[in-house]
Amino acid sequence: MKKLFLLAVTAAAAALAPLPLRAADPGRILIAYFSWGGNTESLAGYIAAQTEGDLFRIAPVVPYPSEYTPCTEVALEERDTDARPEIKERVADWDDYDVIFIGCPVWWHEAPMIIHTFAESYDFSGKTVVPFCTYAATFRDETLAKIVEITPEADHLEGFGSVNGRTTGVDEWLDRIGMLPGASTGIDGVATDGNSDVTVYDMAGNVVYVGSRSEVSVPQRGLYIMRGQLKTAAVIL
Ligand SMILES: Cc1cc2nc3c(=O)[nH]c(=O)nc-3n(C[C@H](O)[C@H](O)[C@H](O)COP(=O)(O)O)c2cc1C
Repeated sequence: MKKLFLLAVTAAAAALAPLPLRAADPGRILIAYFSWGGNTESLAGYIAAQTEGDLFRIAPVVPYPSEYTPCTEVALEERDTDARPEIKERVADWDDYDVIFIGCPVWWHEAPMIIHTFAESYDFSGKTVVPFCTYAATFRDETLAKIVEITPEADHLEGFGSVNGRTTGVDEWLDRIGMLPGASTGIDGVATDGNSDVTVYDMAGNVVYVGSRSEVSVPQRGLYIMRGQLKTAAVIL
């Protein structure tokens, strides 16, 4: 009987609760990137492997000079003339993608102009854009912000900047934004605060108590989700 009751409570919780869960299935993922020297390409490859997404290389019709200094000159000229360098190919099956990662190196303090071309070439409504970039030292945040700015119809998730394409911190970021396959679902996906015994959520997903299990108090009697020591339960408090 007790078991039945718990089952019923759990089912009710699952049905009612818009909990702040990581997306169980973020949908189909595309990782679109531009890379000149290979750093962003290798980071994009890593993200694709971790998320099981598809890769799309944003390649210019006219290749950039392979020498560093001439490349910086072309890039600066493009930036200063607000150019839209042409892209070789289009993404096949654009409509099938739900999440679009857009990645690039920082070029002259912002995203290369070819990223603008890309952003203006597709309909981003209903898509979720995740910006990422690689850089040597500066203008990471400005570059991530630029990608957000030029895809105004999309929703956006937290971006990531990596020094020269290093993958340190990438897994944690992907986990945080719910892009790792097999992310928790249902009430087991409720996040926990590792420093406390227990976290209690109301049915709207708000944290109402964090602390020791023996001292739990809630604003009013009702159905709550309690999470502690990697166990989740729907409880009446
Ligand atoms: C044209 C050009 C401009 C750059 N401007 C910046 C910059 O403003 N800030 C920075 O930290 N790195 C800058 N860099 C360094 C690159 O962002 C960095 O090396 C990046 O990881 C290269 O990525 P890629 O190998 O995918 O092309 C620039 C590099 C180039 C070629």
